[in-house]
Amino acid sequence: MRIALLGGTGDIGEGLAIRWARDTNHTIHIGSRDPEKAETRAEDYRVALTDQGFDVDIHGSGNEDAAAAADVIVVSVPPQYAADTVAGVADGLEDDNIVISPAVAMDRDQAGFHYDRPAKGSIAEVIADATPDGVPVVGAFQNLAAGALTDLDNDLDYDVVVTGDDADANADVIELAEEIDGIRALSGGSLANSGEIEAITPLLINLAMNNDGMHDLGVKFK
Ligand SMILES: NC(=O)c1ccc[n+]([C@@H]2O[C@H](COP(=O)([O-])OP(=O)(O)OC[C@H]3O[C@@H](n4cnc5c(N)ncnc54)[C@H](OP(=O)(O)O)[C@@H]3O)[C@@H](O)[C@H]2O)c1
Repeated sequence: MRIALLGGTGDIGEGLAIRWARDTNHTIHIGSRDPEKAETRAEDYRVALTDQGFDVDIHGSGNEDAAAAADVIVVSVPPQYAADTVAGVADGLEDDNIVISPAVAMDRDQAGFHYDRPAKGSIAEVIADATPDGVPVVGAFQNLAAGALTDLDNDLDYDVVVTGDDADANADVIELAEEIDGIRALSGGSLANSGEIEAITPLLINLAMNNDGMHDLGVKFK
């Protein structure tokens, strides 16, 4: 499988990239608005993993080339840029691709973080609107903290809830999520349920901010 992380130069992109690179044989394409930045970051991830003895396949390029080279495209950019970023790569998308939304729109005030629900219901649905018809969009990874992923000494024990309207794409994303050691993937049903998953993330951050010793929280449903 070939996985592109648009904005893979950032926090969650790095976390997912290095976990997939370490735990699977998939080819990872780091995307960026700036191809040179993507190449540099890809090299950083590659060196960090090869230094630890892992054999990895990580490349860097512009977002458009990364998407065109991949089967699965993770839109790992801030939520307000997600639709434009997908629109920018749309020409290279085909029906057998899968677009994944890990995005969460949040506001912050003095009280803490609050979910900023888009009029469409969720950022995953905003991304679906920007994605060509026929290309499945799946929500996943919204509740994983980048810091928990990037610390490779950290043993994960988290759930990832997967939402989407294409059963085959959902199954592929569940498999892809569970290939990361310590992740269990659960179906959350239709893409229209994505807002409920996205809304958990500000709760996790508020818990981390208000309780000593808690950081990089995730969810585990029992
Ligand atoms: N951080 C987390 O722990 C976490 C956890 C779960 C989900 N998420 C979600 O994942 C997404 C990315 O979060 P993040 O924390 O990784 O973000 P980030 O580090 O702030 O940004 C990720 C990348 O987005 C690109 N970017 C920045 N401004 C852009 C713009 N105007 N247009 C297009 N691309 C732009 C940048 O890549 P280039 O400059 O290389 O183009 C940047 O490296 C968000 O939607 C967030 O809600 C984050």
